[in-house]
Amino acid sequence: MRAYKNSEIDFMRAAKDYIVFPLDVPSLKEAEQYVVLLSEYVGMFKVGLELFISSGPEIIKIIKKSGTAKIFLDLKLHDIPATVSRAMASIADLGVDFATVHCGENKKMLEAAVAGSCGKVGVLGVTVLTSVSSKDIHDAGFRSEFSSDMSRLVIKRTVMAKEAGCAGIVCSGLEAEMIKEKSGKNFIVVTPGIRPSWDGMKKDDQERTTTPAMAVKNGSDYLVIGRPIRDAKDPKEAVIRITREVEAVLQNDE
Ligand code: C5P
Repeated sequence: MRAYKNSEIDFMRAAKDYIVFPLDVPSLKEAEQYVVLLSEYVGMFKVGLELFISSGPEIIKIIKKSGTAKIFLDLKLHDIPATVSRAMASIADLGVDFATVHCGENKKMLEAAVAGSCGKVGVLGVTVLTSVSSKDIHDAGFRSEFSSDMSRLVIKRTVMAKEAGCAGIVCSGLEAEMIKEKSGKNFIVVTPGIRPSWDGMKKDDQERTTTPAMAVKNGSDYLVIGRPIRDAKDPKEAVIRITREVEAVLQNDE
């Protein structure tokens, strides 16, 4: 099994490198508008199910042509190991930087994803979605040790992902610090559920949210920030404001 080499997070990173903008739009045309508008201002674009199902791999070429932003193909695979391995091999051929698989119930699916990636794409395990609450975990039949403290489930799944050879995991900013302590600084932590503390900011369907500053202080390497940017009156201005918040944390850390 070839391990994915993470060369980036060892080096000095600019605040914009932390910002991941998900292209959560229904058409290639709208996605392209955001790519043109934001490619100089974000470190990575995330392509998710909505856009990939409607438009396929064309968007990958558009992002690559637009500049140096990285690409995260977030299809959150969850299937039998053979299918996941073959799907990840197809993803690896697209030339993206990261791709996701659910941590799920056992390590075999994660190992299959890593084997399929052939070291060409960083495999990220999705631990527990940030839209999921303790009550959801309880109602889904998990033991009370996990529903009373969801970070235990996040840790359990992080250990599985690390042992399977994943490059990192996706979790809420609330758990980032604990994961970095347990898994080491080179194990990548990606956090969605980011909500700046601006007037009128909505949580939407997110449960376990953090501000950009809090997520970076807690050790997140990448912040997935969608609606607060996409739905802002001026998305570019929103990205710049968030980047300044991240920059202030990085400067305090020096
Ligand atoms: O910031 P916002 O809530 O709009 O972010 C939504 C994006 O974050 C979606 O692209 C969704 O797929 C992604 N997400 C994720 N993992 C989670 C929660 C959301 O990748 N746990």
